[in-house]
Amino acid sequence: MAIEWYPGHMVAARKEAALAMRKTDVVIEVLDARVPRSSKNPVIEQLRKQNQRAALKILNKSDMADPERTRLWLAHYNAQPGVKAVALSAKKPNEVKRIPEYAKALAPHRNSLLKPLRMMILGIPNVGKSTLMNTLLRRSVTKVGDEPAVTKMQQRHELGTGMWLTDTPGMMWPGIGEDIGLKLAATHSIGKNAYDVAEVATALGAYLLVHYRECLEQRFGAIPADCSGHALLGVVAQRRGFVARGGVPDLERTARSFLGEFRDGSLGRISLETPDDEAEDDVDAASAAESLAADALPGASDVPASDDLPDE
Ligand code: G4P
Repeated sequence: MAIEWYPGHMVAARKEAALAMRKTDVVIEVLDARVPRSSKNPVIEQLRKQNQRAALKILNKSDMADPERTRLWLAHYNAQPGVKAVALSAKKPNEVKRIPEYAKALAPHRNSLLKPLRMMILGIPNVGKSTLMNTLLRRSVTKVGDEPAVTKMQQRHELGTGMWLTDTPGMMWPGIGEDIGLKLAATHSIGKNAYDVAEVATALGAYLLVHYRECLEQRFGAIPADCSGHALLGVVAQRRGFVARGGVPDLERTARSFLGEFRDGSLGRISLETPDDEAEDDVDAASAAESLAADALPGASDVPASDDLPDE
């Protein structure tokens, strides 16, 4: 299933983000802890590296992710230069409140009113950017919603003395690969009109049968040993009584319900990838990012260091 979901406003948003990154010290990249690789926007990653900016990677929604896999992801990212990774839930103020401290440690030279610490929050839709902003700023500044791509304008906020935080709308990239597309559809980072719900639920079911069978059995009861992703939907339909006219399983309704249970954590704490899967995708991502970064940031190689630019 090819997923082409790149709403027009995201092109403008990407260009704006490229410009704003020049005046940013720390990029706060919000990822979905259940799919840290797939929820990473390779274009943004490329821009950040070109601009040599430090990254604070937030593995958000970790309350719904597999803790063991999250631990592996943290170790993976924390081994990278200029990167600090933390796992948290944007809904928990106690976990969110340490973000400024982590960001300061990544840019210790930006520590005064004259040289404020400039942070920018980036991430694909629905990873929890608005929730994080609201918790950080302790007031409702951004509309939080479950339909991807709600925030559409860049906004700057003062986050305590000498600290600025710019938030950006959710940004995707064109030409999302099939594997990533399916995962992002499952986690609801892609608009619902861009994918087939039964296809996504089937792929999710197939993955869970291999990696999280016990979660499925806990939720739906015993599952036949040779069950496929498609057959799983039939099992769920039968157990839930989702039957269409003529007594056949209502697969569409079952798929929606199954995805809903995954998305709200009812199936358990589940992650759909580990750092081991990363290498191959990085090659594709890097080449996609290279071509896009060139148009997003004309003269990228001439961009001055952030300290040379005025603070506005
Ligand atoms: P975005 O700006 O990146 O697009 O995401 P947004 O904050 O709008 O969050 C998308 C959904 O994810 C919201 O759910 C939000 O509550 C939920 N969410 C954000 N962070 C976390 C987290 O750390 N853990 C969990 N479990 N959920 C999180 P929603 O369906 O709109 O409704 P509701 O949960 O607010 O009722």
